[in-house]
Amino acid sequence: MTDTETGTVAGAFGEAVAEALRAGTRAPSPHNTQPWLFATRDAEIDVVLDESRVLAVCDPDGREAVLACGAAVLNIRLALARGGLSCAVSVLPDRRHPELLATLRAGVGRPPSADDVRLADVIETRHTNRRPFAESPVPSAVRHALTRAASEEGAGLALLTDPASFDTFAALLRRAEHVQRHDPAFTTELAAWSHHGERRDGVPLSAGGPRGKDEAALALRDFGGAFGGDTDKAAREFERQPLVAVLTTPGDTRRDAVRAGQALQRVLLTATASGLQASFLAQPLEVPRTRAELRTLLGGAHHPQAALRLGYGHPGTPTPRRGLDDVLLGVREARGS
Ligand SMILES: Cc1cc2nc3c(=O)[nH]c(=O)nc-3n(C[C@H](O)[C@H](O)[C@H](O)COP(=O)(O)O)c2cc1C
Repeated sequence: MTDTETGTVAGAFGEAVAEALRAGTRAPSPHNTQPWLFATRDAEIDVVLDESRVLAVCDPDGREAVLACGAAVLNIRLALARGGLSCAVSVLPDRRHPELLATLRAGVGRPPSADDVRLADVIETRHTNRRPFAESPVPSAVRHALTRAASEEGAGLALLTDPASFDTFAALLRRAEHVQRHDPAFTTELAAWSHHGERRDGVPLSAGGPRGKDEAALALRDFGGAFGGDTDKAAREFERQPLVAVLTTPGDTRRDAVRAGQALQRVLLTATASGLQASFLAQPLEVPRTRAELRTLLGGAHHPQAALRLGYGHPGTPTPRRGLDDVLLGVREARGS
């Protein structure tokens, strides 16, 4: 039973859908832009790209925003599964509306798998962690679980465990970070999405990490840079050999990005459920030249979509989210009419 104006679904089924949408909003997104809108209609959920929230400088073609929406799709799928609902996903169902990224159709009567429950249970506790990790290596069983998570969603996960690949990646990261840091448009955009905790989007200072020493292997994005003077920002020692993982897809279309987003989130939730912390190393993927070089480093066949730093550490800090009222569209708006 649907209210035709708001698209709200009534009853226990509606509550399960609302719960799933709340899980969708917990997905990661570049600069915490939360570039998704949802619409519900009976048992269907539309996931729509909010183009007004695409980062014009950092993500001009919206690839990362689509990844974020793909991550939200996986959260919704898992939350529905935990609620005992089946879910069929149609990616880019309407050629006339490329901003309509996916339509999910919920159905009754599917007991959740143990894996669905395990991953759905950590949606709330997964946080990007920009702090130093311990030096402890990630055991091979956990590495296998991460690569399996990516392949379950049709993506690849390259683990840069050999020193030469790691060093080349670190050099690309430093180059891309340098390009972005010296681009006033990039730093202005970053500062516009960094804050002291007063907003429900953007990255609060509390979620930033300390500055790494200049000789640190991996350059992390500095979300506190706009404010300076923070006592926690004294240079700190980061782990020397974190596990770096690069998510890849066979193609580089919008459809691939929706798939990559779901794979990214399955990898992140698998990491969280395995006791790992993760942060993103997106800089080399955001600068076209270093993205092309990273692709070559990985053998040239597949396209890098996201890079992660994984390791053991204290739990990360939550970031805010907008409420469902802010992200729910009426049905007609979702279909652009
Ligand atoms: C595609 C993508 C790229 C990202 N790139 C970076 C990055 O380069 N550096 C960083 O510190 N965080 C990055 N993030 C993490 C976001 O800032 C983070 O997801 C957001 O602030 C919400 O916080 P949460 O992940 O803790 O929920 C990225 C996230 C996504 C989805």
